Amino acid sequence: MQFYDVIESRTSVKEFQSTPIDKDSLARAINSAMMSPSWKNNTSYKFILVDDPREKDMLASCIINDTNKASDAVKQAPMVAIIVADPAKSGVVADKEYYLVDSAIAMEHFILAATNEGYGTCWIGAFDEDKIRHTLSIPTNQRVVAMTPVGKATERPPHHEKKDVREHVFINKWGQSYTEKYS
Ligand SMILES: Cc1cc2nc3c(=O)[nH]c(=O)nc-3n(C[C@H](O)[C@H](O)[C@H](O)COP(=O)(O)O)c2cc1C
Repeated sequence: MQFYDVIESRTSVKEFQSTPIDKDSLARAINSAMMSPSWKNNTSYKFILVDDPREKDMLASCIINDTNKASDAVKQAPMVAIIVADPAKSGVVADKEYYLVDSAIAMEHFILAATNEGYGTCWIGAFDEDKIRHTLSIPTNQRVVAMTPVGKATERPPHHEKKDVREHVFINKWGQSYTEKYS
């Protein structure tokens, strides 16, 4: 796929076919995540890929505020990718904890690469972190940042409405829409 087609076609997918993930596609998506920038190149995160149905069911039971079927998505998809990070391996500047940034960039690289390989994903951030640590034997010094189901979508949902760039992209000063100069 062309780069902007990948960007355009990524939407949060909640319904999956059971078809397993192709191992070469998976390797390319993981490699894309590992290419992401990170604080001092420390790569503070690790991925855990879960394809065991019992472990996936356990993960689904860790999801909270489940108003829009994230737990069903985790049960259905053939694989779930979880990103876990060690805060001690990243920086803190002016109270900003960069392990979250490292993880977000790596996960988004993974998600976009998976999209390019023809797979659906959905970032899931609302879960009981301790329960996931217990389920997957993750050490207590690690933070569980996010997970995403990965699999062939039964159908790719349309985009949620996105915000108007004029209210979200400024030029030179807060509140001055960039489109006044670049349009
Ligand atoms: C940081 C973050 C946390 C999210 N957490 C959840 C979640 O816990 N459960 C869920 O169903 N979707 C979650 N989402 C998915 C968003 O709801 C979704 O990205 C948003 O509605 C926009 O839709 P789109 O991804 O199709 O563009 C999360 C997304 C992000 C970026």
